[in-house]
Amino acid sequence: MTKRIKTRKQLINGYIDFFKSKEHKRIPSSSLIPENDPTVLFTTAGMHPLVPFLTGVKHPLGKRLVNVQKCIRTNDIDEVGDEVHHTFFEMLGNWSLGDYFKKEAIKFTYEFLTKVLGFEKDKLAVSCFEGDENSERDEESAEVWRSLGFPESRIAFLSKSENWWGPAGNTGPCGPDTEIYYWTGKGKEPLKFDFKNKKWVEIGNDVFMQYEKTKDGRYKKLKQKNVDFGGGVERTLAVLNGLDDNYQTEIFFPIIKEIEKISGKKYEGNERAMRIIADHVKAAVFILGDERKVKPSNVRQGYVLRRLIRRAVRYGRVLGIKDNFLIEIGKKFLPIYDDYEELKRNEKFIFSELEEEEERFKRTLEKGLRKFKEIAVDKTISGKEAFLLFQSYGFPVEMTQELANEKGAKVDLRSFNKEFERHQVLSRNASGTFKSGLADSSETTKRLHTATHLLNEALRIVLKDNEIKQKGSNITPERLRFDFNFPRKLTDEEIKKVEDLVNDKINQGLVVKREELPLSKALSSKAQAEFGAKYPEIVFVYTLIDKNDKRGWFSKEICTGPHVGNTKEIGKFKIVKEESSSAGVRRIKAVVA
Ligand code: ALA
Repeated sequence: MTKRIKTRKQLINGYIDFFKSKEHKRIPSSSLIPENDPTVLFTTAGMHPLVPFLTGVKHPLGKRLVNVQKCIRTNDIDEVGDEVHHTFFEMLGNWSLGDYFKKEAIKFTYEFLTKVLGFEKDKLAVSCFEGDENSERDEESAEVWRSLGFPESRIAFLSKSENWWGPAGNTGPCGPDTEIYYWTGKGKEPLKFDFKNKKWVEIGNDVFMQYEKTKDGRYKKLKQKNVDFGGGVERTLAVLNGLDDNYQTEIFFPIIKEIEKISGKKYEGNERAMRIIADHVKAAVFILGDERKVKPSNVRQGYVLRRLIRRAVRYGRVLGIKDNFLIEIGKKFLPIYDDYEELKRNEKFIFSELEEEEERFKRTLEKGLRKFKEIAVDKTISGKEAFLLFQSYGFPVEMTQELANEKGAKVDLRSFNKEFERHQVLSRNASGTFKSGLADSSETTKRLHTATHLLNEALRIVLKDNEIKQKGSNITPERLRFDFNFPRKLTDEEIKKVEDLVNDKINQGLVVKREELPLSKALSSKAQAEFGAKYPEIVFVYTLIDKNDKRGWFSKEICTGPHVGNTKEIGKFKIVKEESSSAGVRRIKAVVA
């Protein structure tokens, strides 16, 4: 391999210049906090801020764009500690917005990798989509790779789980992709590509965004065919420098050195702890340094930030670090990323928040760990105990889970969530997150609550409008109140039909099932969510099982509950009022007897 490009800045400049020479216009990195997508906490890819332009809105800079996007992926947090996964990373991205397609895209990617970066062709391999009921086998991409001299042994056809990308949230642009791997093993590369062999490292992919995933899980053709390339700066840099792991590159090693200095320990033998600290502090610096000024808290992005900081502090302790150390480590990132002006601008904010949070947690960490030890004699840590660690000692439940795992124990997450919920109701926490619209949990409110779910679904069915969403809900022991988007008054006949359908489902005795799921899973399982509501990362999903419905259920909703166990317990349902609530929003009041 030629050694022309070795540093982060050379890589970024080489990338941008190459795509500029192919008539791409550079766009800036967007904020880490997505502006228009409440279902996703962080920007996870360069395409995320470009969604409208992938669906046909004209971009002011034209049809060919290039950038470097700061990204946060929280679903990889558990993998952080290995050689190649990060919470924060930079993504090289280039796009064709309805302009060139597979042939040109693959040729550009190949030319960049081999000519600009000097990657050896013999060490490259690719994968293409094998095809399914939504999209055909991607012979077209494979044919381009063949024309570039790739033998069959270096072209794998893989399934949707490997070779499909998107949507970034629950709905939106997505498509099959072709992924490019580089052999990083010592010695001669094998003839045949095996994507499961970790020495084949994926360095980038071209996504052919030609579909839109809809709310009901279908794939609709987009108006235009787009290309979305993404490449990881950290991995590419490690490959360019022939290093075994990303943390040995210039964008991490000064930090690793600093952790060695502060802890008096060597990287070798302490890789996992040091990598986690370096990764989490970097992510925290970027979240705090972002335009949107998120602070550590117990909700949404603030909670992720809190988890990252507290986990870094705990791993500091694992390495034997006693004093505050996050600032010293965090500061080392600034000269490396001096091209992000916001970090410079927000420097004071970043470090005062970092220190405050470290200080806050350190006050309770020791005592909390002692408490944990007492508790962890049992194999299962109860919800009450995990909640005590959360509330009195500031342990994010994920940390308690991690500590428990290390001891071969488990946390009863379900009862933790229940405890959490109970506490929220008790303290009438008005933080705005995860409201269930419930004022008290007597038997009647339970019945009304389950009736609300039946009503929600019945409205969509009777009014034949899948876009109907809950806009608000309020339950007292006397009645339920339900707001939903709909443009006009309901007719008497429609009201009767809704009532009849709800009563039918009550009489059929549908079993109510509760599951606990990560929010993204809940949403992709088609569970209803209140429009505009904020949810935590783990949620309860209530399903009203219905064998006669082809979905296997009549209703599925994200909700805190509580609910009855069987719809039979609801009794007779009656709508007492249907009125306008605000423009485009109707309000129904109903009772059960
Ligand atoms: N959006 C694609 C990715 O994140 C390029 O890998």
